[in-house]
Amino acid sequence: MPATLLATRPPLAAVGSVASLVNVTKVFGKGPSATTALAPVSLDVAPGEFVTIVGASGCGKSTILNLLAQLDRPTTGEVFINASRSLMFQEAALYPWLTAAGNIELALRLRKVASKDRRPRALELLAQVHLSGWADKRPHELSGGMRQRVALARCLASDPDLLLLDEPFGALDTVTKSLLQDELVALRQRRGFGAVLVTHDVSEAVRLGDRVVVMGGHPGHIVEIRSRHDGDPADAVRVITEQLRNEVRRRETDQRDRLTA
Ligand SMILES: Nc1ncnc2c1ncn2[C@@H]1O[C@H](COP(=O)(O)OP(=O)(O)O)[C@@H](O)[C@H]1O
Ligand SMILES: [Mg+2]
Repeated sequence: MPATLLATRPPLAAVGSVASLVNVTKVFGKGPSATTALAPVSLDVAPGEFVTIVGASGCGKSTILNLLAQLDRPTTGEVFINASRSLMFQEAALYPWLTAAGNIELALRLRKVASKDRRPRALELLAQVHLSGWADKRPHELSGGMRQRVALARCLASDPDLLLLDEPFGALDTVTKSLLQDELVALRQRRGFGAVLVTHDVSEAVRLGDRVVVMGGHPGHIVEIRSRHDGDPADAVRVITEQLRNEVRRRETDQRDRLTA
């Protein structure tokens, strides 16, 4: 096929997807100290879909999220993005000198929302994350859960097609975490955004994901992708936990064999 035809044909994996990774690898560093963070990984995210990625620490979850956020580039393979995105991390990273509303108003300002509309819009967003009455508090006056709610409201300020969430509830106690998970589900039903959420919490991955991507590490690879309709959630939690345990055991055995070789 002539090269020009190849170049103009739309990439197959990107058709109908808001985000695609196609045979993506990522190597950090060079030479003997290089770390292969991702073996070839391919993943498509459909519009409005909620994908969760679960795996042990160090298996490449954040690397995938950073590639989807286009904060980083793959070593080989391709990343296609066809969606507006918003990012949220484990720590809220709010501006400490701004109030809850002020943090959101700043995001709206960066989106070029007219100044008279910013405050009412910020209050509306805070109401959506159950923080009416907290608008004028600064981050240090809020609990960890409240700060994450502000961060979520700030993400939604740009009305993104796709939320990229890196262990957003990882630092919260279990009760607060479950509340925020429910709120995220409700927000998504109301607003229709898609999401890719990274977590090491299997129950969270199963609870939130339309599809759950189970990852193994060293180098990061996809062990299995499970759909919500692949059976009972409790069974899914059990099976995925066992898969992750096997991955960790495999790694420990590899390490031991290398050390004793
Ligand atoms: N900037 C970097 N430089 C060197 N190594 C990195 C860098 N970022 C991640 N890694 C390595 O890549 C692997 C995957 O990391 P990461 O994606 O952060 O894992 P996870 O989010 O699943 O805990 C780890 O071995 C980590 O040490
Ligand atoms: Mg990480």
